[in-house]
Amino acid sequence: MKMANKFPVALCCMLLCSLAAAATPGSRPLVGELIGTRLSLRIGTPPKTQLLQLDLDARVSSINCGPSPRSSYQVSLNATDGSNPTGPVTIPGVPFKCGSPVAALGRGSQALPARLSPRNKKIVTYCLSQQGSSPIFFGAQDINFMPNKRPISPLLQYTPLVSPPARHSYAIRVNSVRVNGQRLPAVKPAAWALSSTVPYTRLVTPAYVAIRDAFRNLTVPRVAPVAPFDTCFNASGLGSTRVGPPVPPVELQLEGNATWTLFGANTMVFLKDSTVACLAFVDAGSSSPGLSVVGTFQQMHNLVRLDLEKQRFGFTGILFFYQTTCSNFNTTLAAQNSASGLIF
Ligand SMILES: *[C@@H]1O[C@H](CO)[C@@H](O)[C@H](O)[C@H]1NC(C)=O
Ligand SMILES: *[C@@H]1O[C@H](CO)[C@@H](O)[C@H](O)[C@H]1NC(C)=O
Ligand SMILES: *[C@@H]1O[C@H](CO)[C@@H](O)[C@H](O)[C@H]1NC(C)=O
Ligand SMILES: *[C@@H]1O[C@H](CO)[C@@H](O)[C@H](O)[C@H]1NC(C)=O
Ligand SMILES: *[C@@H]1O[C@H](CO)[C@@H](O)[C@H](O)[C@H]1NC(C)=O
Repeated sequence: MKMANKFPVALCCMLLCSLAAAATPGSRPLVGELIGTRLSLRIGTPPKTQLLQLDLDARVSSINCGPSPRSSYQVSLNATDGSNPTGPVTIPGVPFKCGSPVAALGRGSQALPARLSPRNKKIVTYCLSQQGSSPIFFGAQDINFMPNKRPISPLLQYTPLVSPPARHSYAIRVNSVRVNGQRLPAVKPAAWALSSTVPYTRLVTPAYVAIRDAFRNLTVPRVAPVAPFDTCFNASGLGSTRVGPPVPPVELQLEGNATWTLFGANTMVFLKDSTVACLAFVDAGSSSPGLSVVGTFQQMHNLVRLDLEKQRFGFTGILFFYQTTCSNFNTTLAAQNSASGLIF
């Protein structure tokens, strides 16, 4: 009798507890799915998936609102233990404007880092891949990839976030640049903005010319330029390595004794059915005078972190060195939650 009475109560409590946990926003880190530089987000009731362009400079997200627009919507993402998704969490009252879909990753209280991260854990970490999907984390400290829950976050190096130039939200200080181990004196210390909408890093003219000239020293045959690039090579002469074509590494020496080394996979873009490889930087020229901006091509294949609590930017360097990729987050629901899923 006693057993018979207690058992349904315990079951009921388990059910309520797991419901309550699933409905509590802001208490656990979340993971979302990126497709290229767009966040696949379930929005509204009933939830509909929209693809939102990541925008580090946007303060408020926007979506296609439909006939009866609102100023805020509920969104659904998975909670995460850092290794797997652990089940859906619904967050009400996330501010949106109407417009082409944008996931605002700016600093303000309306943007997603503030709305989706647990309190006092405003940390956004993402990994951009060239193909397939990859993860973005809100509030996660420790991140592990397949196989064997391999710790990836300990690979991060950090540099302070500095006061951003112009209309940008985030910037880092680049003290000098080396190509092939040789310091380029024409590249003066400066703040470089970070962007998730600029595809290829834009460099102020003297820095651009210095890096370009260093690459023009390559003995591989040059071919006609393919806009917007002006330094292109016959790809068949380039060869390949685990980290892309074997071109001189570009080392960004950052404030705080951090060095972000860019290898071929982040400096050379293949075009025209991969027959041509171009230096994947562009001259900022008149488009953003006086300002260099780190684009998404250069961030790809890295785990990248905006830590708003400690005001710092983190990057792992290319993950291929560690025999992993941005697609290696395990998207299978963790075992504990498929068990509670059985109750429903
Ligand atoms: C949570 O993760 C599972 C497994 O990857 C996925 O099927 C589901 O769509 C995710 N839910 C949300 C809200 O992202
Ligand atoms: C992915 O996670 C699931 C659930 O925890 C686990 O069973 C599986 O072994 C993991 N896969 C890999 C390749 O690590
Ligand atoms: C490029 O070649 C020129 C001329 O040979 C040389 O002076 C310069 O140091 C080289 N630059 C780099 C970065 O290798
Ligand atoms: C690249 O080199 C190959 C082999 O030498 C040659 O057949 C091809 O025409 C070259 N491509 C271009 C675009 O010059
Ligand atoms: C800078 O980093 C290098 C390599 O990680 C290390 O050997 C050196 O001691 C560091 N210098 C300072 C001032 O922290």
